[in-house]
Amino acid sequence: PILVLDFGSQYTQLIARKLRESGVYTEVVPYRESIEDIKARKPQGIILSGGPASVYAEDAYKPDEGIWDLGLPILGICYGMQLITQHFGGSVIAADHHEYGKAKLHIENENSPIFKDVAQDSIVWMSHGDRAERLPEGFEVVGTSENSPYAAIANESKHIYAFQFHPEVHHSVEGTHMLKNFAKYICGCESTWNMGSFAKEKIAQIRAQVGEKKVLCGVSGGVDSSVVAAMLHEALPKEQLICVFVDQGLLRKDEAEQVQDMFKLLDIPLITIDAKKEFMEALAGVTDPEQKRKAIGEKFIEVFDKEAGKHTDVSFLAQGTLYTDVIESVSVKGPSKTIKSHHNVGGLPDWMTFELVEPLREIFKDEVRKLGLELGLPKHMIGRHPFPGPGLAIRVMGEVNEEALRLLRESDAIMQEELRSTGYYDKVWQAFTVLLNVQSVGVMGDNRTYDNTVCVRMVESVDGMTATFAHIPHDVLEGISRRIINEIDGINRVVYDISSKPPATIEWE
Ligand code: XMP
Repeated sequence: PILVLDFGSQYTQLIARKLRESGVYTEVVPYRESIEDIKARKPQGIILSGGPASVYAEDAYKPDEGIWDLGLPILGICYGMQLITQHFGGSVIAADHHEYGKAKLHIENENSPIFKDVAQDSIVWMSHGDRAERLPEGFEVVGTSENSPYAAIANESKHIYAFQFHPEVHHSVEGTHMLKNFAKYICGCESTWNMGSFAKEKIAQIRAQVGEKKVLCGVSGGVDSSVVAAMLHEALPKEQLICVFVDQGLLRKDEAEQVQDMFKLLDIPLITIDAKKEFMEALAGVTDPEQKRKAIGEKFIEVFDKEAGKHTDVSFLAQGTLYTDVIESVSVKGPSKTIKSHHNVGGLPDWMTFELVEPLREIFKDEVRKLGLELGLPKHMIGRHPFPGPGLAIRVMGEVNEEALRLLRESDAIMQEELRSTGYYDKVWQAFTVLLNVQSVGVMGDNRTYDNTVCVRMVESVDGMTATFAHIPHDVLEGISRRIINEIDGINRVVYDISSKPPATIEWE
């Protein structure tokens, strides 16, 4: 594969995605991956991503020095270019003004393989503060732009290339072509990779890793864990796979049945544990959001561990960890601040002795969806909105009780129905209702009411890291509001959340 070292650019994911879309398998790893781990991945070429820092900063992110001696082709992008320039003895300066936006790239050396079949002049996207001032020895300029005399440089004999611009972003018109040229002509990669070959490869890896032992797979009904379960099911004989679904009593209306039906359809045996009582007890009197999350996380592991104890020879725990989870928990800036304690990643207690099976660690949500289709999961399941591990508990402001859960379940179900019937379900990334701890006065018929408020939250997002509130037509909102107030006893007001993330978050707790 091609290995991308991530120095923290917001575009790093795009490099991998563009290459994979061109059929070249690409993995992203944090910039400080050790040389042993890098070698173990057997890369054919390395890409150094952009990043927000300056190579001269005292705590500048530096890769393992060993990468320079591997003899592999290297492509540096933006910050990656600065690293290459500095390492090979050139110099980098802080530009007096940051250069953002479109620039015209002019190719100075058409014979460079990186520009094979690329138009001589094309639009590229710049976004940088520092730039190379003096070329390192052995390098020549292969591309220029009006403001960047060193827009693209190369050491052809060492197969090292560096771009000041970002080829991975959509606005760099020929960018994908250049990345593909790097992979194909410089690294010798074939472009035969697709989700089908990824599935096959991962299934073979799972077999090799697990051997004759058993795997416990936690299932939530969401896309990620279902895809993991489907892969394990392909990879292992039935007796080696134990899929466990914990009904914590915090699920949406009919959700437990839907999950069970889906696993029946996939012909994967599923153990459902009814732990509603235990969870409600653990949540009694708890109102603080973080305490709720902690109480649920702990209970979850406890229930899970008890189940594992009933089976012999369970050595592995399978999880649907995605690349976004990995990069957030090993954030390039070191341990990142806890905004919320996500309990499916990083929340495993030390005493757990399982080894992890995480076949989705290198890919992104939209790729998981493609993979799911490849594995034959039903479409309606692939398109499901994300649902958080702590469930409805973090959508009830204040103490969780049965009445609050009823109001949430009913209002959520109505909203989902309305979204599906108007065709908006697939247009928003996630939609749900929140029960506010607010009562207000209303009038129904001739009577005064003093009832609860439900908030409708709908967001557009790519990966959940950032989000904007969905611009839903008012008549769709009106339909949702009317039905919720008319059909649910105990709710007399519906409001719409118009905040984006950041500074708000998607969930309310
Ligand atoms: P926030 O509220 O942090 O949510 O903006 C971002 C996305 O993550 C989901 N979420 C969770 N998912 N366990 C999960 O599996 C959790 O503890 C958790 N908390 C939030 C949330 O629904 C949104 O899609």
